[in-house]
Amino acid sequence: MNKTLQDLLAELEQFGAANDAANAERARRMLNITRDTGELLAVLVRATGARRILEIGTSNGYSTLWLAAAARALDGHVSTVEMSDYKLTLAAQNFARAGIADYITQVPGDAGQLLDSMPAASFDLVFLDSERAEYPGWWPNLRRLLRRGGLLVVDNALSHAAEMAPFIALVAADPEFTCCTVPVGNGEFLATRAGG
Ligand SMILES: C[S@@+](CC[C@H](N)C(=O)[O-])C[C@H]1O[C@@H](n2cnc3c(N)ncnc32)[C@H](O)[C@@H]1O
Repeated sequence: MNKTLQDLLAELEQFGAANDAANAERARRMLNITRDTGELLAVLVRATGARRILEIGTSNGYSTLWLAAAARALDGHVSTVEMSDYKLTLAAQNFARAGIADYITQVPGDAGQLLDSMPAASFDLVFLDSERAEYPGWWPNLRRLLRRGGLLVVDNALSHAAEMAPFIALVAADPEFTCCTVPVGNGEFLATRAGG
């Protein structure tokens, strides 16, 4: 990872912490993943050779930068979905500053609607970090979009365990998926699809 990107990630970590401490309103908070979660995502992308990555929940692009930096090394690409105009603008600025905007497509809008129009098996890795109550309803599309042998990663498996329980139960009950929860950051739920 080059120094420009390293410095930007460090800056965004400070910004996110200060911003979220100062803002009670959820829509204005960045709610970024932790640095060690970013490191885990980078390893997962590189280890699985994921070139087609979908992120749901861009915020200001902190997690996207980790995914895209790893994907760039594989000549891969990240599509990232966000419904907040405010956060779409912040993310676009950060992607330009990082110099990796060419490896990222911002997809504006409501994930629930956008997932319907995406082609089946079009992603190697899906990172889900959005509105947790919606995940069970999104599961049929998430499952459809993930190619055989692909990997689903979901943030907040431990920090919001009760909210996540219905979704985790749904995925874990699917015989095509092998799952675990990793105690990194806020807890990452990993589910890989058989075949490939
Ligand atoms: C936890 S934050 C994402 C943090 C980001 N992954 C990071 O670590 O930098 C969740 C984001 O999901 C967005 N969001 C919530 N519901 C959404 C929906 N239905 N469609 C698209 N984006 C949504 C919110 O606006 C918010 O920016």
